[in-house]
Amino acid sequence: MNEPIAPRSDVFPSNRQPTARVVAMPADTNPSGHIFGGWIMAQMDVAGSIVAAEYAGRRVVTVAVNSMEFHKPVFVGDLVSSFARIERVGRTSITVLVEVFAQRPRESPAGCIKVTEAVIVYVAVDAEGRRAPLPERDLAVWRSVYD
Ligand SMILES: CC(C)(COP(=O)(O)OP(=O)(O)OC[C@H]1O[C@@H](n2cnc3c(N)ncnc32)[C@H](O)[C@@H]1OP(=O)(O)O)[C@@H](O)C(=O)NCCC(=O)NCCS
Repeated sequence: MNEPIAPRSDVFPSNRQPTARVVAMPADTNPSGHIFGGWIMAQMDVAGSIVAAEYAGRRVVTVAVNSMEFHKPVFVGDLVSSFARIERVGRTSITVLVEVFAQRPRESPAGCIKVTEAVIVYVAVDAEGRRAPLPERDLAVWRSVYD
């Protein structure tokens, strides 16, 4: 079995700005009543693409999902927060770690757990959809401003 991408933590990272937040709705459930995994993956892809496109300063496309782990189910009413962080930058590709936390406002005290994480790779593209070089940026400085 692969090692987890990052140490598991069920503590909501309140020192970071979530890239995207959304409430899981009944329409997003699978036949067993849990939130559909594909819906969560879509939220993660959107969150990852936001930080990748900001870095690239242009359109990006998803080229690979290098890993995806579902730790816990998501339920209707959960507040789902995706935290995306750029891990690596190549000539045209940006590798992003996306971690998803679910907050359960109905629980008392309100619970929060890390439900999912993934490593997703994006490629910067030009108007014709061909790979395009990334701008030269200092990733550490970029992170300190945007993380
Ligand atoms: C993304 C795409 C433009 C890449 O074009 P390409 O000419 O094949 O480019 P390359 O093979 O040289 O790969 C470009 C970069 O992606 C990386 N890459 C390609 N496949 C990868 C994979 N499976 N995993 C990780 N990185 C990958 C390469 O290492 C390279 O990175 P670098 O430039 O930073 O070194 C093309 O494959 C494509 O259009 N794919 C479909 C994208 C799509 O429709 N996504 C879904 C909707 S957004």
